[in-house]
Formats: sequence, C-alpha cells, structure tokens
Amino acid sequence: MSSAALAGGPVDEKLVIDDELEIITRTAAPEGHPLDEVISGWHYRTEETRALEADSFQNPGMLYVERGEEIWNTVEGDAGKSCASCHGDGEEFLKGIGANYPKWNADANKPFNLELQVDQCREENMQAKPYKFDAADQKALVTYIKHQSIGMPVEIDLSQGEMQEWWKKGEETYYTRTGQLNLACATCHEDYNGNYIRADHLSQGNVNGFPTYRLKQSAMVSLHNRFRGCIRDTRAEFPAAFSDELMALEVYVTWRGTGLSVETPAVRQ
Ligand code: HEC
Ligand code: HEC
Repeated sequence: MSSAALAGGPVDEKLVIDDELEIITRTAAPEGHPLDEVISGWHYRTEETRALEADSFQNPGMLYVERGEEIWNTVEGDAGKSCASCHGDGEEFLKGIGANYPKWNADANKPFNLELQVDQCREENMQAKPYKFDAADQKALVTYIKHQSIGMPVEIDLSQGEMQEWWKKGEETYYTRTGQLNLACATCHEDYNGNYIRADHLSQGNVNGFPTYRLKQSAMVSLHNRFRGCIRDTRAEFPAAFSDELMALEVYVTWRGTGLSVETPAVRQ
C-alpha cells in the first residue's frame, strides 16, 4: 500500500444539514480508544459527495426514509398490525432509539441491532415473516428508524448483559489480519486512515451513517453488507450477516464512533 503519494487528512469543514442541523463529525475519542479523535467518513469524501449529504432534498437516501415511513404504517402479517398499530407515530417513538443500537437483548442472550429487533417484532408481534438479509424493505425501514435520531450522538450501553464480552470479541476481530492480503480492519482504518488505497480515501471506518447511500451502487448499503465487502477485499471468506462474528464487530465498531452524530442516510462514494 503506497501511503505517501496522495496522503492528506480529513477535510476541515463542518456538516450542517439544510443549513440548520449541525452534525457532530469530529469528537474526542472515548476512553480506551486507540486514537485521540473520532472522525466521520464524511470528512474523507469529495466536495460533491459531501454537498449531497448536506442537502436533504438532494440526498438520494431520503427516498428510502420516505419508503420506510410507508412501511411503518402498513399492515402486514396474520396479526393484522402495522408497526404504528403498537408504537404510534414513528417520529415520536423512534427518536433516539437508533443512536443506542446495538443493544443487549436478554431473551435472545445476545446483542440486537435494529435489523434483528425489527425481525423480532415482525415475527412475534405481527406474525409476519422476518426479512431476508438486505431485502429492499429491510433497508428502507432501518434507514427510516435510524433517521429519526439524526444529529444525536451515538452511545451504546456496554453495561448490560454480556456486552463487554461481545465488545472484546469484536475488538479481537478488528485487529486480526486475515485473507490472502493479510490485512486487519485496523490496518486500513487505523494505521492508514487519511491515506489512499487505489482511488479511495481511507476513513476511520465509522458506522454512524448506516445504512448509507452509495453512489457507486446507486443504492442503500446496510452495515453488514459493508463489513462483508471490506472483508472480501482482503480476499478472506466473509461471515454471514448477523452471525456472532459480525454482531460482535458491530458492537465494537459502533463503540469506536461514540459521540459522533447519527448521519443516516449518509452519502458515500
Ligand atoms: C403488537 C405490537 C407490536 C408491533 C406490531 C410491533 N412492535 Fe415493536 N415492539 C413491541 C414491544 C412490546 C416491544 C418491546 C419489547 C420487545 O423488544 O419485543 C417492541 C420493541 C421495538 C423496538 C425497540 C425499542 C427500543 O427502545 O429499543 C423497535 C425499534 C421496534 N419495536 C420496532 C418495530 C417495528 C419497525 C415494527 C414493524 C415492523 C414493530 N416494532 C411492530 C411491540 C410491537
Ligand atoms: C484493504 C483495506 C480495508 C480493510 C482491510 C477494511 N476496509 Fe473498511 N473500507 C475500506 C475502504 C477503501 C472504504 C471506503 C472508504 C472509507 O470510508 O474508508 C471502507 C469503508 C468502510 C466503512 C464505511 C465508512 C463510512 O463512513 O461509510 C466501514 C464501516 C468499514 N469500512 C469497516 C471495516 C471493518 C469493520 C473492517 C474489518 C472487518 C474493514 N473495514 C476492513 C477499506 C478497507
């Protein structure tokens, strides 16, 4: 990896959405974090990409937010209920929830991300089928849920259940080199962040903008899809979505971005 040629740090700009909502895109790292400052991936993108995220009328991810709201209010499953039947107005009920996931789920005895929580409500409360991984409606609904916390700082509760152990397991994965290229998450996102790999400006790999609208794919990309893509790039076998390995990674990487605002739907290259 050539680090010298195009090296350059994150841009020194502020993200203010629609000239009114200030987004925390840089903040002091939580205690125990290897870096001093955590920085949103927004700072590493081009001016055009950054501008798209700053204008909610131009942000293509906002269409998924709208679609998610429709799903929230649509009856599905044998119980004849919608999400709104139990939870009421989504904008009210969901405020803040997306900033605190993943969260310990005592019944399942593991951390739940929003996708798993939504599936639990679909199966147990609506008698509907769980979503297939990366179904369009799953991405739209999770985008809608996360968007209700836009601007709020990410903070997950590691004191519940066995969250500490999952955090530890995620940390281990983060620093383990794998694949034919023998790279760890930390190689690219900690040691080389700020440098270029091919045409890509490497960020810290924070997750506060997920699901994220990717211009390259003209679509929303879920977090576990992104994790799998990064692992595939090291030419390693990639684990299943929502497997224990990726759930642990989600806990750990979400913690790394503690204090950054939820940006969903972020726009990335
Ligand atoms: C029959 C009522 C019912 C329906 C319908 C329902 N839920 Fe729930 N939901 C619950 C209950 C009860 C809880 C809290 C206990 C639990 O986790 O199951 C909950 C919890 C949640 C939470 C977690 C809240 C938190 O503070 O962590 C989210 C998010 C959520 N539901 C989203 C949804 C979505 C999205 C839908 C539609 C796909 C939906 N729910 C449908 C009853 C329902
Ligand atoms: C070969 C280098 C490389 C490795 C190894 C790698 N990534 Fe990435 N990752 C990238 C590139 C390139 C991007 C896109 C540019 C950026 O945001 O850094 C990216 C983006 C991301 C993003 C999206 C950031 C945002 O702001 O949208 C996340 C999250 C992420 N990576 C997590 C991980 C995790 C977790 C691992 C380990 C399982 C990992 N990456 C391993 C190269 C890598």
